[in-house]
Order: sequence, then C-alpha cells, then structure tokens
Amino acid sequence: MNAHTFEKDLFRGKVVLVTGAAGGIGAGIAKAFADLGAQLVVQDIDFEKLQRGANRLVRDGHRVTAIGGDLSIRGTADTVFDQALLAHDRIDILINNAGRSWGITTDAISPERTDELMELNFNSVLWLSKRFIAEARKHGEGGSIIQVSSTAGVTGFERRAVYCATKFGVVGLTKVLALDHARENIRVNALLPHVVETEMFRTVASPQDAANWRTGIPMGRFAQVEDVANLAIFLCSPAASYLTGGLYPVDGGAMAGSFGGN
Ligand SMILES: NC(=O)c1ccc[n+]([C@@H]2O[C@H](COP(=O)([O-])OP(=O)(O)OC[C@H]3O[C@@H](n4cnc5c(N)ncnc54)[C@H](O)[C@@H]3O)[C@@H](O)[C@H]2O)c1
Repeated sequence: MNAHTFEKDLFRGKVVLVTGAAGGIGAGIAKAFADLGAQLVVQDIDFEKLQRGANRLVRDGHRVTAIGGDLSIRGTADTVFDQALLAHDRIDILINNAGRSWGITTDAISPERTDELMELNFNSVLWLSKRFIAEARKHGEGGSIIQVSSTAGVTGFERRAVYCATKFGVVGLTKVLALDHARENIRVNALLPHVVETEMFRTVASPQDAANWRTGIPMGRFAQVEDVANLAIFLCSPAASYLTGGLYPVDGGAMAGSFGGN
C-alpha cells in the first residue's frame, strides 16, 4: 500500500522537515509527503545521496531543499533549523528520524560512543523539537512533530543499553512536549518501528539475528519503509487532529504480547 491511499493533495501548502532522509525510513517518509503535495526540506549527513534523492522528490515545480550536517555534533540541529527557515517562512511538520544503532556488551560501552549516540538519537531530537515549537507558537497555527523512536523505546533489547536509553528518552520527551503544547495545537507523537528492512537493519542484523527476529513477529514479515511512512502520514493529517502524546508500534503485532512463533 503506498501513499496514494490518501487524498492526493493532502499536504499541499504544507512544509515538512525530515531528518535522516537520504535513505531508509526517512527517505520513505519524505517521498510519501512529496507524493501528497507537501514541500520538503530534507536533511542528512550523506549530502550527495540526499541530493540525488531530493531531485527525485520534486513535484509540480515544488522545490525540495536539501541540508547536510552531522546531527551527532552539538549545534548542528540549530544550524539545520536556521537553514530550513531561510528556505521557507515556516515549517508545519517536523519528522525527527535521523538515528543510528549499535549493539555492544556493557564492558565495551565507552563515553565517546555514548555521547555521540545520545547527541544524535536524543539531543538533536530535543533541539529540533524546541526550535519547531518556538516557531509554531509564533505563527499560532499549531503543527505536528513525529519522533521516530523504536519498540526499543518501550522494551529492552539485549546488547543495546545505550540505544534503548536514547529511544526511551525520546518517548518521555514526546509525552511531555505533547502535554505542554496540546493547548497550542502542537501535536507530538512517536512511531515505534520494530524491524524495518533498511540499511540500518542490513548493517546490524546477522542472518541468524534476522531469522530469530522474524520468528518473534506474529505477522511473519519485517516492516517495509512504506508501513512506517503511512502511519506518519496519517498522524500528520487532519484525520488525526485529536491525537497527541501517542506511541504507535509498527511491528506486525510483535509488542502485542507473548508469541512463540510458528
Ligand atoms: N530499521 C529498523 O529496523 C528500525 C527500527 C526501529 C527504529 N528505527 C529508527 O528509525 C530511524 C531511521 O532508521 P533507518 O532504519 O531508516 O536507518 P538508515 O541507516 O537506513 O537511515 C538513517 C539515515 O540517517 C542518516 N544519518 C545517520 N547519522 C546521521 C547524522 N549523524 N546526522 C544526520 N543524518 C544521519 C543516514 O545517513 C541515513 O540516511 C532511526 O532513528 C532508527 O533508530 C529503525
């Protein structure tokens, strides 16, 4: 099922900022919004790949703005938001998607790698959300933030203490920002993908991991980026205007309860 399930011009006139949009889930979400008429600002550390993808997103003369930068370096989030505002008067929708994952034993956890992951997976999400909310309060017409957390934001995964901590942090941030800005119609929701077939999945999963993980998914398949993008589209659409502070698994039923596989 692709984004054409939704009304064709659903996001015409809206500006959407997507981080980590050169590949994987971010690229899928950016494409879905572009297909539905939105103007895009896309961001990624891999600027060449981002620009190649951005050219394919241009629709009906709408421009797509591509912004580089490493969101694991403090200060980049502000620079990215400043550049987005140079291109557009306002940003209506923010998709905090950029993130990395690694799994290591407790002994091998180092301050350097932890700081880097915290900065990318949690701090940059906080700083971009803060800037987005300040702008939305100025124009007074609300807005929607989607935080791409993970099922690792609500349950533990072995050898992923730091990754889980960042994604749990994003869940807490989502709930409190939703509470604090509900009256301003700034909605904040979190997606909890489980296993999505992207570059990240291919990098972190051995064939044995992949086989084990598939066994734990009641629907018996991994998610595709479209499964995640469709939910992001719905949550940012007028149909979801009463939804804020929510956590939405995209997991083929994996978090529904105990499941032995078949
Ligand atoms: N793939 C999965 O199974 C899965 C499951 C749960 C949650 N997630 C989350 O979804 C998000 C996207 O994951 P994905 O699977 O599409 O990963 P991916 O590796 O396929 O894509 C991530 C994108 O982010 C960019 N990026 C990485 N580091 C960056 C940095 N420092 N600054 C700016 N951009 C950077 C990459 O260049 C890439 O284009 C992440 O936050 C991840 O934690 C993924």
